[in-house]
Amino acid sequence: MLIGEAPGEAEARMSKPFCGDAGLMLGQVLHRLGYKREDFLIGNVLMGCRPPNNWLEGAPWEHDAIENCRPYFDETLRRNPQIKVLVPMGNTALRYLLGQSGIGNWHGTIHWHPGYEKWVVPTFHPSYLMRGNWNEIATARFDLQRAVELARNPQHVIRPVSYLEHPSHTQALEFLAAYREALQGNPSLVLAADIETPMSGKLDEDDAEESESYKIECISFSFRECEAITMPWEGSYIEVAKELLEADGETVF
Ligand code: URA
Repeated sequence: MLIGEAPGEAEARMSKPFCGDAGLMLGQVLHRLGYKREDFLIGNVLMGCRPPNNWLEGAPWEHDAIENCRPYFDETLRRNPQIKVLVPMGNTALRYLLGQSGIGNWHGTIHWHPGYEKWVVPTFHPSYLMRGNWNEIATARFDLQRAVELARNPQHVIRPVSYLEHPSHTQALEFLAAYREALQGNPSLVLAADIETPMSGKLDEDDAEESESYKIECISFSFRECEAITMPWEGSYIEVAKELLEADGETVF
């Protein structure tokens, strides 16, 4: 299911999502992949109402409009149990489904929506592509292809990864707490650690010993599948990293 934001003028007149200019763009993207509109269920966060002047994101009525329309969205999913993957197109739908913003960082990633029990693969909104962002059209095609492959073959897709690359100090502490808790349940739990230096990957291990490459830039940890954290080796993060390394579990570098 491809999910946009809200009907525009043409869509409101025809009671059909994406039948105006944005729909033409969407049709082109699908066509290049060899698909037709009919291969997808197409909808919007606001299934049935058009915001004044097409203004929803940041509008004073945004929250109420979305909440009023939520039952229609949910009902659409209930009536279409064959839907396996939800594709939020653009920031409004991304926020609606994943509670995240910044489609540029989230497009093409794979998530599980526990409430709807469906996969989610965000991509750009066709209107964004039409606003001169032509170089993202190929990216959107890639994202959509990924969503289709996921719908066809969920077991062949790599499971989503929760990877905190720039954690806040609080997130680093939460990771430490989660690790300690997991260790209590399973004392033989292994902590995987990886230290990055300026020369990481550029030298053989033997050469590295001779070089000044012992300056640590960051350190990454993982103690369960598909979850990892990378902390900079600086300030209070160093203490958290040391506590992880000094905890009772086995550490493997
Ligand atoms: N933009 C949307 O988000 N949805 C439509 O249906 C049309 C344009």
